Amino acid sequence: MKIAIVGTGYVGLVTGAGLAALGHHVTCIDKDATRVAKIAAGLAPFFEPGLDEIVADGAAKGTLASSTDVAGPVTAADVVLIAVGTPDHEGRIDLSQIESAASEIGAALRDKAAYTVVAVKSTVIPGTTDGVVLHALERASGKKAGPDFGLCMNPEFLREGSAVEDFTKPDRIVIGAIDPRAAEVFGRIYAKFDCPKPVISLRNAEFCKYASNALLATLISFSNEMAALCEATPGADVEVALDCVHLDRRLSPVIDGQRVKPGILSYIRPSSGYGGSCFPKDVAALRAFARDRGVDAELLNAVSAVNDRRTAAVLDLAEARIGAFKGKRVGVLGLTFKSGTDDLRHSPAVTLTEQIIDRGGHVTVYDPIATEIARNAFGDKVRYAAGALDAVNGADVTVIGTAWPEWSALNWAAVKSAMRGNFVFDARNSLRALSLDPGLVRIQIGAGA
Ligand SMILES: NC(=O)c1ccc[n+]([C@@H]2O[C@H](COP(=O)([O-])OP(=O)(O)OC[C@H]3O[C@@H](n4cnc5c(N)ncnc54)[C@H](O)[C@@H]3O)[C@@H](O)[C@H]2O)c1
Repeated sequence: MKIAIVGTGYVGLVTGAGLAALGHHVTCIDKDATRVAKIAAGLAPFFEPGLDEIVADGAAKGTLASSTDVAGPVTAADVVLIAVGTPDHEGRIDLSQIESAASEIGAALRDKAAYTVVAVKSTVIPGTTDGVVLHALERASGKKAGPDFGLCMNPEFLREGSAVEDFTKPDRIVIGAIDPRAAEVFGRIYAKFDCPKPVISLRNAEFCKYASNALLATLISFSNEMAALCEATPGADVEVALDCVHLDRRLSPVIDGQRVKPGILSYIRPSSGYGGSCFPKDVAALRAFARDRGVDAELLNAVSAVNDRRTAAVLDLAEARIGAFKGKRVGVLGLTFKSGTDDLRHSPAVTLTEQIIDRGGHVTVYDPIATEIARNAFGDKVRYAAGALDAVNGADVTVIGTAWPEWSALNWAAVKSAMRGNFVFDARNSLRALSLDPGLVRIQIGAGA
């Protein structure tokens, strides 16, 4: 099939390159000409494991093209996906990118005779696809959604850091559709996948994405509230308590005599809070959506409040053990919002670093992938290290900002020798299974002194 994708970020490009690898002819469209030129040259414009290979392959085979022009690729396409950003604006969803993308697509449909399905892949609040999107498409095309063109909502569940794998092995492909014809044509782009493909209403498709992210954010804030209670309780360690919680067969079932540990358990762990480009904005958008409808979303309000407090809480915990950050030399290891990505958007590690600077710490940062990108976040407020040992050189405290697996391969004796102090503040509790150099003192979160 011929597919055009408007918006070539993490979602648009992974989906585009993935669909091209399945044999479709895909054009990825973006306003960002640098991004478009890179893809045309067979290069992924950002880091995502496995993405370089499928972008290069698609560009070489001619199944993956890129363009800054919307009209041409949309005119040629059977299916058009909208994968533009839906950022937060003062605590509610900003639909301006969605509306302008839909208008541009609509204009391209005006003189097109062939039936085309337009599908929203971006995360949008319920009522957006059959509201803002439908109206913009109808206005710009002069056509009617349903009889003249199809309209679908296909929420995206990929996780940065494993996005290509998530595309290849989806848990489910949710197809919200205005009518059966749109669902049938749209479903053809995923014909090769053998997974549940529920066909539901547009609004239910929109809602399931929010419910999914709200559940995960809730589990994280629940775990962090339990962590805060343990931090206030001498002798208590939330990791030990949660290990026991995880053993409940309803959380980790025993199948054929083997205990299965589902991925969901990784959300029931203490941390310095959730972040990234999705959870904070999606929880905020859902809270605003609730307010607009007169629904008191008390739980979501608390999920957000617990998260907002968490960075300061873990830094208070660290200062109670090691003294004030003021005047201390601090080496921060890891800046991305999770390992496996170069994405710094709303990264808890960036917030943590900013607050250490605000508290008077002199910070050097290092991230296995994103040290250079971090220059946009910190400017000249920090020193940028060439490696982990360089970052901790002369430091009083080493802070683990992101749980990169690289830290387990670090030579911790060399870390000890490089540092002038001996504290390692493990803000993600990711060094728990390691035996560090005996001269180092690991400060963990979620435990009372
Ligand atoms: N990143 C994730 O992990 C993830 C996962 C699931 C869902 N989502 C959702 O998917 C959507 C996209 O997220 P993302 O992280 O890929 O965003 P992104 O910011 O990385 O990419 C969006 C792209 O759209 C482009 N764009 C905006 N308006 C355009 C227009 N009119 N024409 C052409 N290009 C345009 C921008 O230049 C940008 O490159 C969001 O709604 C997000 O909530 C993201």
